[in-house]
Amino acid sequence: MLSALSRTAVRQSAWSRVTRAQLPRMASAPSSTWAQVQQGPPDAILGVTEAFKADQDPRKMNLGVGAYRDDQGKPYVLSCVRKAEHRILGNLLDKEYLGITGLPTFVQQAAKLAYGENCPVLAAGRIAATQSISGTGALRIGGEFLARFYPHAKKIYLPTPSWGNHTPIFRDSGLEVGQYRYFDKTTNGLDLAGMLEDLGQLPPKSIVLLHACAHNPTGVDPTPADWQRISEVLRDREHFCFFDMAYQGFASGDINRDAQAVRQFVAAGHPVALAQSFAKNIGLYGERVGAFSIVTQDPKQKAAVESQLKILIRPMYSNPPMNGARLVNEVLSDPELHREWLTEVKGMADRIITMRTRLHDHLVNDFGSKRNWDHITNQIGMFCFTGLTPAEVARLTADFHVYLTKDGRISMAGISSNNVKYLAEAMYEVTK
Ligand SMILES: Cc1ncc(COP(=O)(O)O)c(C=O)c1O
Repeated sequence: MLSALSRTAVRQSAWSRVTRAQLPRMASAPSSTWAQVQQGPPDAILGVTEAFKADQDPRKMNLGVGAYRDDQGKPYVLSCVRKAEHRILGNLLDKEYLGITGLPTFVQQAAKLAYGENCPVLAAGRIAATQSISGTGALRIGGEFLARFYPHAKKIYLPTPSWGNHTPIFRDSGLEVGQYRYFDKTTNGLDLAGMLEDLGQLPPKSIVLLHACAHNPTGVDPTPADWQRISEVLRDREHFCFFDMAYQGFASGDINRDAQAVRQFVAAGHPVALAQSFAKNIGLYGERVGAFSIVTQDPKQKAAVESQLKILIRPMYSNPPMNGARLVNEVLSDPELHREWLTEVKGMADRIITMRTRLHDHLVNDFGSKRNWDHITNQIGMFCFTGLTPAEVARLTADFHVYLTKDGRISMAGISSNNVKYLAEAMYEVTK
């Protein structure tokens, strides 16, 4: 038997035989395990931000990322949020775990905001709901839930185009992804006829993803009359409606108007699920606060669905973070902060609408562009689908230091009084 001392000596002597030449090979040995991992492409939108950061030109503009900026181009923390933060801090609350489905008062407030104060379905205790990791997490929970429990289909249909993250979210949830027509490139508006035709031809009881308002990336929303026709087709085919509402209040400035499609569909008796985000409308991007909900038949079904949501969430992230939920709850439940928030969300939406008008006016009146730019003011929400070609986008970046995604989408929130004319001139130059 070797003594402890001699065992150490053996180990040392084993290592003493390792030459310097062998060391790097041994050090790099674990990396060979991952040699089959291919370099993945960068995220399309975050890649734009990186290129923007590397540009030293003082005129540079980042219109890629969908985050609100004030008229000085600075990130904006809402005053109601600052006040809520102070109050919460003063309450010296604990930091215990939340339950699996999050902060109950927050979940109730989120449902009231989306479905409406007087929604009979909500009052009847038929809406199963959970807090989520912002809108992305809500979509993922919804995708996972439908993949497990929706008995009629394992495929979700997205509008063409849709937010770039929808496809990977639903694929990773275990759903197949299909498409329906949505955007008409010739008018830069809604292809209502194509949309209705496609939805009408899907297998009955298909899962259909709908942007509740401020469609990303096109900025094109159906009118109330269009929604009525969409509702009729969906009801005829008994499709399941999964609403993504990442921008309530951000489109029109009116939280009720922006939730109209969701409320109309629930009232009409559609089967509905809903993903909500508080990233944009309360400016809580990094707090990651959102909610997922689904309309059920009765309180018993609601309880069963919530029990399965818990089983689904628990192994994913156990329970959600509390800070954002406390902030939203404080803002929505306190009448004074709630009122202030409504004014602030309208202020953000109005600033964006003003930028649309000014960009349009500079292009048409100051620079005399012959192109039709009416879609800039007809579209709504944070984004504008400019209709610029990939070559025009490339020139905008190379010659004018304006950064945007290749599909010609610009974030209106990244435009300010200081640079709107510069942008118009750049757009005019690359399209004349
Ligand atoms: C259409 C749409 N859905 C969902 C989200 C989710 O965002 P978040 O996870 O930041 O709430 C976004 C964000 O850009 C979006 O545009």
